[in-house]
Amino acid sequence: MIRLSNVSWRRERKANAPVLSNLSFSVPQGGFRWLLGPSGAGKTSLLSLLHVENLPSDGTLCLLDKDVTAQTPRSVLVRLRQRIGMVHQNFRLMPGLSVADNVALPLRLQYRPEDEITDEVQAILKWVGLGDRLDARASRLSGGEQQRTAIARAIVHRPGLILADEPTNALEEPQAHKLLDMFSELSSMGTTVIVATHNEALVRRLPRPALVLERGRLVQDGT
Ligand SMILES: Nc1ncnc2c1ncn2[C@@H]1O[C@H](COP(=O)(O)OP(=O)(O)OP(=O)(O)O)[C@@H](O)[C@H]1O
Ligand SMILES: [Mg+2]
Repeated sequence: MIRLSNVSWRRERKANAPVLSNLSFSVPQGGFRWLLGPSGAGKTSLLSLLHVENLPSDGTLCLLDKDVTAQTPRSVLVRLRQRIGMVHQNFRLMPGLSVADNVALPLRLQYRPEDEITDEVQAILKWVGLGDRLDARASRLSGGEQQRTAIARAIVHRPGLILADEPTNALEEPQAHKLLDMFSELSSMGTTVIVATHNEALVRRLPRPALVLERGRLVQDGT
């Protein structure tokens, strides 16, 4: 379901040092992988390729059975991206929209009926503990509330692939554990999940294979 073969990525076309060098790995459908490595190793950059925000400079990338290349039609890439849920390191909420409207975005992109959207959004926000903040503007939220909104937005449309970049750094420990249990459950039901983290206690709590990056290279792929 995810397959990279000799993928490299340069931030600019002519930059000589690639940010990601020669990555080859695959993750089956329903697989859970930690994405580990020191600050600056390239975790966020790799997630930006898997979220189709950037395209590989070299090598081949296959996601959800689609090849992702510069030749792939834009409409295909856009639809592919809608099947992926992403929790960004810096949340990337729409600050002027309410919590409910932020979380509704992926469902509105699928043109789901509004009454269905209301129900789904309420249920997921209740689950992340924001059931009473539906109408709050995103710009008025605390860091932890923003992160929980971003998590709700990433999973509300039941994507086939969930990417999460440090999804627990603004959360308290019980919330972090609850989130992890949910990711683990989603993966056992067939969703592929990749979680970048620095939190070793979290990794020890949920032992799963890890992709480890160092200076843009994959130095470990496995347990
Ligand atoms: N906006 C940017 N412009 C230029 N270089 C950048 C930019 N963002 C990151 N980099 C560089 O790209 C490399 C990879 O960064 P990346 O953010 O992918 O690392 P990371 O593993 O996610 O780090 P962290 O754990 O701190 O989030 C680093 O050398 C970093 O300095
Ligand atoms: Mg990062």
